[in-house]
Amino acid sequence: MADPSHLAKPPPRSRLDSDAPSAHEPAALAPPQAPPPPLSPGQILSLRITDVAFGGEGVGRVDQFVVFVPFVVAGEEVQVEITEVKKQFARARLVEVLQPSPQRVAPLCRYFGECGGCQYQHIGYPLQLELKCKQVADLFERIGGFPATLIAPVLPCPQPYHYRNRLMLRSQWNKPQQKLNFGFLRADSRLVVDVEDCQIAEPALNEQIRQVRLSPPPRGGLKVVLRIAPDGWEVPRDSFFQNNFLLLPRLAEVVRERLRDSGARFLLDAYCGVGFFGIEAASEVEAFIGVELDHQAVKAARRNAAARGIRNGEFIEGRAELLFGGILQRFASDSTAIIIDPPRTGCPPPGLEALRQQRPAQVLYVSCHPATLARDLNVLCQSGVFELRGVIPLDMFPQTQHVECVADLRRRSPA
Ligand SMILES: C[S@@+](CC[C@H](N)C(=O)[O-])C[C@H]1O[C@@H](n2cnc3c(N)ncnc32)[C@H](O)[C@@H]1O
Repeated sequence: MADPSHLAKPPPRSRLDSDAPSAHEPAALAPPQAPPPPLSPGQILSLRITDVAFGGEGVGRVDQFVVFVPFVVAGEEVQVEITEVKKQFARARLVEVLQPSPQRVAPLCRYFGECGGCQYQHIGYPLQLELKCKQVADLFERIGGFPATLIAPVLPCPQPYHYRNRLMLRSQWNKPQQKLNFGFLRADSRLVVDVEDCQIAEPALNEQIRQVRLSPPPRGGLKVVLRIAPDGWEVPRDSFFQNNFLLLPRLAEVVRERLRDSGARFLLDAYCGVGFFGIEAASEVEAFIGVELDHQAVKAARRNAAARGIRNGEFIEGRAELLFGGILQRFASDSTAIIIDPPRTGCPPPGLEALRQQRPAQVLYVSCHPATLARDLNVLCQSGVFELRGVIPLDMFPQTQHVECVADLRRRSPA
């Protein structure tokens, strides 16, 4: 497997992606010995966009020097203004599209380009799906040395707008206008864009935005989480639940299909939240155990299982990565699958090490961050312990840079 050490020092920004290793830039960059950049901030120039990298920024070049530009489409000729020049790359803002791509479409949202929530509303939905597939394939190739043929086409969301069931609305005092702004962080700063609605949110969330604006909280600088409760699931106020109800049945089905394919009889659902995957897959296995750190989520998971009459599972509270080893010993490793769905920073090293030691027959790694996913799969596959059978991306986040992936690994060598 390829050595991902070149990712140890993430290149600056992307702000939208700041809590995990940034993997999109190095591949596009000029080699370190390239001559100093012929560019300076404020400079206006024309660029041909050759690619849109993971993170959503388009890639253009001045000689061999890379310039990142947001809100463009591959193949376009654009006029840009340089905003930042680094040793190996520059950033620019889009001034004008000189030659638009036939795939460019009109964004639905009036705040698009200003608001930092969406990166792709200007790209037709079929191309967004192709783009995400290519970005995942490129990342996996670069970080893990995995061939692109392992990446399946991205499963689309049935509705590319009005799908989100959860939003974090921020308020911030707008000094020049002497008013409170309610909305989301801007694409280019920590300032809040004042929004009246959000086109990727479900209509009921837009109603909640209207209510917050009508009766604002007393101070600025607040964050309010708006959410719609999922039908049939108990989710405590601060606990996690997947944020796209429309594609969620397909995600559960993908996990069940992969479990059926391996024939696993036992399941460990690690980082289980309110028990979503364990409960959805309970009928596929003889027994399952869910592990979760959030005390309230564990209690809700027990009630969610009981409400469905599910009796072949139990839920344990604790740090999953520290418990993997012990729990996996309770099941025969050649009949056991583990689902891991950790936060976007990925699985901590003790968890990966425990998996390599215990060698369950199947690891289904669910992740909304392909870069940390590829990094962790690379560790699991080192010295041939596991083999990556395939990656199924699902577009849980249309119009944005994000994509969910289910990676299916199988044990290669017995414990
Ligand atoms: C991406 S969510 C996945 C939840 C669940 N699989 C689902 O689909 O609804 C990650 C979950 O991991 C939990 N978590 C974070 N760190 C953890 C840890 N060290 N051990 C166990 N759970 C953890 C969070 O509370 C959250 O519920």
